[in-house]
Amino acid sequence: MANELDGKVAIVTGGANGIGRGTVEVFAAEGARVVIADREVEAGEALAREIGADARFLRTDVSRKEDLQALVDFTLAEFGGLDVLFNNAGMPGVFHQRLLDDDFADFDAVMNTNLASVMHATRFAAQHMAKQGRGSIINTSSIAALEPSYAIPIYRASKAGINVFTRCAAVDLGEYGIRVNAIAPGGIPTRMNSVPIPGLSDDEMKGLIAVLEPARLVTQPLKHTGDPRDIGNMAMFLASDRAAHVTGQIIAVDGGVTAGETLKQNELFGQVRDDYLRSIGKA
Ligand SMILES: NC(=O)c1ccc[n+]([C@@H]2O[C@H](COP(=O)([O-])OP(=O)(O)OC[C@H]3O[C@@H](n4cnc5c(N)ncnc54)[C@H](O)[C@@H]3O)[C@@H](O)[C@H]2O)c1
Repeated sequence: MANELDGKVAIVTGGANGIGRGTVEVFAAEGARVVIADREVEAGEALAREIGADARFLRTDVSRKEDLQALVDFTLAEFGGLDVLFNNAGMPGVFHQRLLDDDFADFDAVMNTNLASVMHATRFAAQHMAKQGRGSIINTSSIAALEPSYAIPIYRASKAGINVFTRCAAVDLGEYGIRVNAIAPGGIPTRMNSVPIPGLSDDEMKGLIAVLEPARLVTQPLKHTGDPRDIGNMAMFLASDRAAHVTGQIIAVDGGVTAGETLKQNELFGQVRDDYLRSIGKA
């Protein structure tokens, strides 16, 4: 399997680092021409240089609607078309473990960056894609929205919004040949995956991540840590013509975390049950 994206032009937002960068690399290796859109100029320009003639970088703040229109216009001017939009840039917001401690001060920033950006960019890209009668739009959601839990509620809500919008857009844009899907990554070790905890230094944060990683694998059926390219490979499939009949789907790429409880989790529960039964002489 090679050059699955030959002849296609793609935008990857948040393409300078992490999952976006991994996806840019996969897209380019598969023959796509790619516009890397990010607000980090140095990293974005360096990646575009590394890839060469088939890549461009455009400084973009996805929370600004006008930047997103400029991004689509730039792509059409540079590469003469637009086939794939990967709405991937995102931010976690300030980490609050419990709802009672969260004043939602970053609500607008998180919602504009994670959700409004996806809606505006989809519309601007689709205005072009509808004319050409085809296109693939891929949004980065998160398992944080599929399995709501403690902490970062604004982030979770923004990703849940992406899931609903993905399906709305798929229904609306299907008749123009535009497919819209979302990928829900599990924990992938990127900068974002280590949401700074107020009061912890960078080194303390690194120490915490090192001890948490094995704990995370307890809840993950596949016992290896995910990589940005694991997400990039799913994005590549959804971008390609092989996914011609796939739209409106939220696809988890998470090592099986959302598939169900692992044996280890189940054993922990069983241990508590057995301890209790023993304590009342019924074991
Ligand atoms: N890493 C994970 O475990 C994980 C899990 C689920 C979902 N996600 C999602 O994956 C996406 C990518 O995150 P990542 O883990 O690669 O993080 P990352 O921090 O490595 O990369 C995020 C990129 O987005 C860019 N970005 C952020 N805000 C921007 C803005 N306003 N305009 C333009 N660019 C902006 C950053 O500069 C950076 O290059 C995010 O949407 C995130 O919510 C990540």
